[in-house]
Amino acid sequence: MNSGNPDLIRLIRAEIEKRGPVSFAWFMHQALYHPQHGYYSSGRCAIGRKGDYFTNVSVGPLFGQLLGAQLAEIWERLGKIDNFMIVEQGAHDGQFARDVLESVQKRSPEFFEALRYRIVEPFPIFQERQSRTLELFRDKIEWRSSLQPFIGVHFSNELLDAMPVRLISNGREKFVGVDGDKFIFVERLVEDDVKFNEAALGWIELVAAKLHRGYVIMVDYGCSDAEFQGDVQVRARHRNLDSPFEQIGHADITMHVDWPSIAECAQANGLRVAGFTDQHHFLTGIMSELGRVGSPEPTAADWSQSPLPDSPKAKRELQTLLHPEMLGRAFQVLALSKNVDPAAPKLAGFKFARKPDSVLGVSRDTTPESRARRGHRC
Ligand SMILES: C[S@@+](CC[C@H](N)C(=O)[O-])C[C@H]1O[C@@H](n2cnc3c(N)ncnc32)[C@H](O)[C@@H]1O
Repeated sequence: MNSGNPDLIRLIRAEIEKRGPVSFAWFMHQALYHPQHGYYSSGRCAIGRKGDYFTNVSVGPLFGQLLGAQLAEIWERLGKIDNFMIVEQGAHDGQFARDVLESVQKRSPEFFEALRYRIVEPFPIFQERQSRTLELFRDKIEWRSSLQPFIGVHFSNELLDAMPVRLISNGREKFVGVDGDKFIFVERLVEDDVKFNEAALGWIELVAAKLHRGYVIMVDYGCSDAEFQGDVQVRARHRNLDSPFEQIGHADITMHVDWPSIAECAQANGLRVAGFTDQHHFLTGIMSELGRVGSPEPTAADWSQSPLPDSPKAKRELQTLLHPEMLGRAFQVLALSKNVDPAAPKLAGFKFARKPDSVLGVSRDTTPESRARRGHRC
């Protein structure tokens, strides 16, 4: 017996009965994004202590404060332009945007003046919540339901892991069928040229087309090597469930991000890998650069009122974000750039990072021949 939202279960069953087993990506899309019943689109998803899982953002404001410093550095790097756009996708209730804007307003008024904040939000229920959270910043924010051209930074935290995936391994693909009153997996041979993460690859292609100049920063949990496991995680009320057929529409379904394929697809679409590292090193790099204020080349941002923690609560936040056994190693950060001087110094967050090419196993050579040799993913 399956559990979850009965209307959603009925609807998925009806579709399978009509057209036979469906890809797992279709099932996952319904479970998370069905317009009325999806876990996200219905607004049912709750993040944080009283919800289903934690994210960097729900840990507290420190994450947004530190990212604010990184964004200020990028703004300087792009020549302190007006109408510098911060584009966020997967903004949930708008908390990250508020943490960034509050921090930048306080520490870097010049950057605050120059920036605009665009939230790409297809779901009306989240737009409503975001506009409540961001009431004080109404003049700075604009909403769009899809990606539009921009100069600045695209930021996301845990967006990619929530994109629908196909379940493919060893030349076989798992489809979702029905057996009596249960959903079951039905295996079939994989058709040629099917990518398990085609939604994420299509998304990075679109971001690459819309970004005119600047950076893309993605924070997510994933793998950078051959240890990649193509299994989904299902979570509700801080518990891992055994199967995606439990709590359908009431639970989150995610998969580790396959960073090399994202980086490779980005490169094939005109983006450059500007850095890749785990969250521990990324945030430590940013924190180490907060002290640059007052150096011979002062930054525009006055980070002298450092966001670094001095209360016990803020210290716990920092520990959760940095500790290797908490979020520090589980999460990674990939930065991509376009039309930015390739000889520019590393961004602060990548000060302690290893060379991205070696960690990701991707090459800067993106000719069709070279990509074919490496069994290209995009
Ligand atoms: C795991 S939650 C992360 C929320 C938030 N970034 C955080 O860290 O707390 C994933 C979010 O991505 C959103 N999302 C998924 N696909 C999206 C898309 N194509 N455009 C905008 N948001 C999307 C979901 O609605 C959900 O709010």
